Amino acid sequence: MKVNNTNYRTIWPDPKNPKVVKIIDQRHLPHKFVIEDLCRVDDFAKAIFEMHVRGAGLIGATAGFGFYSALLHASPNHFEADMEKAAAQLIATRPTASNLLWAVKRQQEAIATESSIEAKISKAFATACEIADEDADFCRRLGEHGKELIAQISKQKKGKPVNILTHCNAGWLAFVDYGSATAPIYAAHKAGIGVHVWVDETRPWLQGAKLTAWELGQENVPHTLIPDNTGGHLMQHGMVDMVIVGTDRTTRSGDVANKIGTYLKALAAKDNDVPFYVALPSSTFDWTIRDGVKDIPIEERSADEIKFISGLTEDGRNETVLIAPPETKGANYGFDVTPARLVRGLITERGITAANERDICAMYADLA
Ligand code: MRU
Repeated sequence: MKVNNTNYRTIWPDPKNPKVVKIIDQRHLPHKFVIEDLCRVDDFAKAIFEMHVRGAGLIGATAGFGFYSALLHASPNHFEADMEKAAAQLIATRPTASNLLWAVKRQQEAIATESSIEAKISKAFATACEIADEDADFCRRLGEHGKELIAQISKQKKGKPVNILTHCNAGWLAFVDYGSATAPIYAAHKAGIGVHVWVDETRPWLQGAKLTAWELGQENVPHTLIPDNTGGHLMQHGMVDMVIVGTDRTTRSGDVANKIGTYLKALAAKDNDVPFYVALPSSTFDWTIRDGVKDIPIEERSADEIKFISGLTEDGRNETVLIAPPETKGANYGFDVTPARLVRGLITERGITAANERDICAMYADLA
């Protein structure tokens, strides 16, 4: 997608030096566009843990390249042990997103059939590139399916802009390209269908205010930033036609874990008969579980992310300030689970399915 009219992906191998992988360091957005070089597996793990990169698909792609980087620097004397250690290090960075585990497992399986160290390294590089390309392709394809839903609503509204509410950032910054929740929006906008996006600011990390608002602006998609608690009011007044969010882990029965606060939006959507859709590439399914509330691990992050806030000062400096009493305790759960019964449909690269085990498994019979 575009940054100042130039197309970027969120992660790519340095064309001049394949030992280096480049990422957009999202901590500096929207005020600064910073590209960071990742060279060792520690850099990759830190980039995921400290959220230089974030979002389901991008975490998976970063883990794929991180695994390759670990092999590049593994000692020939204890290659297997170094590889196992790196896999565990990457998987431990963030517990909720299933793409992380999925990407590391895919790498382990891909290199298992190669016998020499050189062959394993080049297979790991090819697989990392494949994971990234596939993520971009799946998001582009799910965007085309989701566009049809927006087109139908636009028709019912006789061409008036379709108001879509989204939470957090499930945009191209959360994937390799296009995004999940935003892919249908970009596709509709490109096709000339009128859209307007309500962007939840998404406390405490403010992915909506900092990232979603920025990327929609870069693509000239009309949008309005709102405090997290505004959605219910907008829905009661007929100002939301549909909700589209992303997911970090989806069970085989259609429960979805997404950024904290998503569940409350789904409840408000149900109460107001607003269709609530979840967009995802199939890499986000966790086929091993059914009950999301019981079985999806929920990441807990530092309370400092709630108590401090950072932004740009009038003289252009980035500053972090304390907003709560210093001694106040905070609880920072990163995600919540929205049960399938609140989800109108899952928008995937293979099409749109109802959020229930029978329909999901019929669509993904080869994977489920
Ligand atoms: O903590 P984050 O920013 O990595 O959380 C991920 C998200 O942005 C969301 O929950 C998103 O909506 C789904 S990931 C595409």
